[in-house]
Formats: sequence, structure tokens, C-alpha cells
Amino acid sequence: MNTMTKPVLLTGLRANNDLHIGNYFGALLPLIDMARTRSAEYQINLFVPDLHSFTTPIDHSQLQAQIIHNLRLFAAAGLPLDDPGIHIYRQSYISAHSELAWIFDCFTGFGEMSRMTQFKDKSARLSDDRVSVGLFNYPVLMAADILLYGASYVPVGDDQSQHLEFTRDIAERLNNQFGELFVVPKPVKDQHDFFGKDQGLRIKDLIDPSKKMSKSDESGKGIIFLGDDPETAAKKIMGATTDSIGVVHYDPAAQPGISNLLTIHALLSGETIQAVADHHDGDTSYGDLKKEVAEQVKDFLTDFKAKLMSVNDEQLTAKLEADEAAMNQVANQMLLRVQQAVGLRPKAV
Ligand code: TRP
Repeated sequence: MNTMTKPVLLTGLRANNDLHIGNYFGALLPLIDMARTRSAEYQINLFVPDLHSFTTPIDHSQLQAQIIHNLRLFAAAGLPLDDPGIHIYRQSYISAHSELAWIFDCFTGFGEMSRMTQFKDKSARLSDDRVSVGLFNYPVLMAADILLYGASYVPVGDDQSQHLEFTRDIAERLNNQFGELFVVPKPVKDQHDFFGKDQGLRIKDLIDPSKKMSKSDESGKGIIFLGDDPETAAKKIMGATTDSIGVVHYDPAAQPGISNLLTIHALLSGETIQAVADHHDGDTSYGDLKKEVAEQVKDFLTDFKAKLMSVNDEQLTAKLEADEAAMNQVANQMLLRVQQAVGLRPKAV
């Protein structure tokens, strides 16, 4: 099958230096596994949305290192660097993203963007002078990211569903006005059916197991970062909140802390939660369970560090540059069609 005729599966993974095991098992690993297992039937595009990184204020002196770190994380998580069906690239290296975003801006309603819940949430947390226009039209750039490559499948978290709906809207809007320009991505429901429910698997905070593990936790005690020192991480497991029931059962409502430890146990050992829960069900020592999980976490982090160290940077850079050259061609072709449609370029005869 020709690469360009395969359906396109595309997603952007935000540059983020402090990825934790919740992000790793809930988002990164499933995506890398999917890329690996589906690259024969789908063209896979995994890119770093570096232009999206400063829609809210960041420390710019760290950005370049974060972008490279992110790409190395893909490789350490198992992304094959020799698979021609998988493309990796940095958004800002393909200028068509920015150019198409401007054109889309002019077909996007102010009211439409004002209704985006992520914008409302994020802007509510910032003082007015720090709410950038970039944050406001974040979804417009995201639509350009997707539509430039004709992507049908776009695995994203629930927080991005509204942006995906907007992408479909703007694609249809321009298709209606100018003829069939864009592949309209599948509706959110179809995306969920396609990607399955496991994507929703969530690791909880160790200290407050009623909420999911999230980097916004100030103390960091409830979070295991991929970059944590393995001993420190083991101590965090030993300090995890449990309950006073005293018997191990997998019961997220009544025993959220214990159930969370069982979940982490299952993810680290590659077993099902059911199998792990059955094995420990009825145990009366929380300490033993904690010790076991703490050892596992230690081994996992040690192993992951080694994988990160052994990433072949030359091979990574070579692939990145080759893919960016190829994707520039694909994206520029699409951009030209849009420029022709809106009258910025003479129509092809
Ligand atoms: N907004 C996405 C997130 O925060 C990242 C992203 C940017 C993206 N552009 C994209 C995801 C295009 C999918 C497709 O997770």
C-alpha cells in the first residue's frame, strides 16, 4: 500500500519535562504502542506541538531542551526509529502550520473561540494581561495541525474533544464554501470506539487517591515522576495513603488508595488489574503490598533511565530531519490548495 493512501492517524504530544507515571501509562505508552502496532495500516504522525507550548507563559530558556527531551522520551518508550510508516516532527519546523492557522483565524468566530471550555478554564487562572491571543486561538492552530495532513484519527484526551469538534466544523465550513478541500476527522464518538477505553486508565495521586495523579500537586509527594530518583520514588509508595479497613480488596470507591496501588502494580507488571487483585485479595498486610509495589517502581525507573540514556541521538535527529522534510512537502501541497481556494495564489489550470 502506498504511504500516502493509508488513513492518517495523527496526534501532538506537548513538550513537558516532568512527565509522571500517570501520563506515561495513560497517554504516552498507549500512543507509542499504537504507533508500533498500527503503522502497517495507517500513516502515523506523532509531532511535538512546540508552538502551542507558550500559549501560557513558560520559561523560554528551557523550551529547546524540553522539545528534545520529549522526542527522546518517545524513543525510550519504544518508538521505533526505523519504521517508515511513522513520522515524527516539530510543528514549528513546518511553517505551513502557522500559515494555515492565520487563514483559519479569518474563518473563525470570536464567539466560537470564547466558548471553548479549555480557554475559559485556563484564562480564569491567569491575570488578564497574561491571557494571550495565542491561548485564545490555540484550537485554530490545532485544527491546522490536523487538517494539513488529512488525518481521520486523532487520539486525544477528553479535554481536547471540543477542539476536535471545532476542527471538524472548520473543515466542513471551508469545504462548503470552497469545495472538497479537507478530510474531515472522525467524530469524537468514533474516535473513542476506535481507540478503546483503556486510554482512560488513570493513576491516582498517592496522598489523595480521590483525584488523579497530576503535576499541579504542589508537594510532589503524591506523584511519581519519570525523572524521580528510584529510592525517592519507592519512599513515596511507602508513604501512600491507604485506609483503616486492613484487608486488601480492589474496590476504588471504598479503598481508593489500595486500589490505586493495585493498579500501579498491574501496569508495571503488564498484568490485568483483575489478575493482580485476585492475587492479593484478602491480604492483611498493607506493608507487604507497598513494599512489593515500591520495588517494582524502583526497577521500572531504573530501567527507564537506562533506556533514556541509550537513545541513539544521531538516529533520532536523522529521522526527525528526514520526516520534517517529507512532511513539509505534504503540508505545503495542502497549504497551496487552500491558498488557491481563497485567492492568495493563482488557480492551477
Ligand atoms: N492540544 C493537545 C494537548 O494539549 C496537543 C495538540 C496540539 C494536538 N495540536 C494537536 C493533539 C493536534 C492532536 C492533534 O494534548
